[in-house]
Amino acid sequence: SLVSTGELVAKAAAGGRAVPAFNVITLEYAEAVTAGAAAAGVPVILQISENAVRFHGGRVRPLAQAAAAVARGGSADVALHLDHVTDIRLLHEAADAGFSSAMFDAGALPYADNLAATLAAARWAHGAGLWLEAELGYVGGKPGAPASAHAAGVRTDPDEAARFVADTGVDALAVAVGSSHAMTERSASLDHPLIARLREALPVPLVLHGSSGVANDELRRAVSAGVAKVNIGTALGIAFTGAVREALAAKPDGADPRHFLDRGREAVADTVRELCEVVGA
Ligand code: G3H
Ligand code: ZN
Repeated sequence: SLVSTGELVAKAAAGGRAVPAFNVITLEYAEAVTAGAAAAGVPVILQISENAVRFHGGRVRPLAQAAAAVARGGSADVALHLDHVTDIRLLHEAADAGFSSAMFDAGALPYADNLAATLAAARWAHGAGLWLEAELGYVGGKPGAPASAHAAGVRTDPDEAARFVADTGVDALAVAVGSSHAMTERSASLDHPLIARLREALPVPLVLHGSSGVANDELRRAVSAGVAKVNIGTALGIAFTGAVREALAAKPDGADPRHFLDRGREAVADTVRELCEVVGA
């Protein structure tokens, strides 16, 4: 059933767990995430990024509504989140489209600009009843990432982060602690002492981005140190693409896309179930 992100993250944080948040590109992804979560018995977040919205021609409302309908039909608790928003006009559409939360991404900007933009976004989001995540430090590695004031991987400073959260009123903070977006190998090494210091310094849940590049043991350690939302995108792309490639090779003269879409969907559901057990159980 469809629940709110704020509720899921608060519950997970109180229980020393994290909510896995999976990026959705197509309807099959939404179905696979919902099925994988049900198989693991773990609540999840379905997140649609600004990039994915653009991929579908900017039509956010039908996308969100399809994902919400899939979520309502499953047995797991699922929340709907709008991810990596840089265009404030898209944020303005979020609540109406059916999202309970959004991530406003100004992490590439210099501190003062990130603060000002995030403060405005948080005021607007809270007025619309949305839970808002922001970023400080710079995770980096996003394909097509904007030119940044920071080098990718610039770590989040705990004192600056505490001021940022107090001054903006955001509900959660994406922190740069050693992960990077779009890694296809799980070789990132996280700064666990920094995660612990951030946990101490901040009154809001910590969010790990670029989690596809982080191995299971590192993910478990991050969650026990206080990460409460774990964002995963690329790992699903690897699973989906690999399964589709195999299905196409096995049936080179097939003409019904459902054949390979089904294999892709199954592979994503398996990956989701495994990651749910790692971070959410
Ligand atoms: O916001 C989305 C995540 O940070 C996904 O990162 O594709 O590297 O797993 P990833
Ligand atoms: Zn991210």
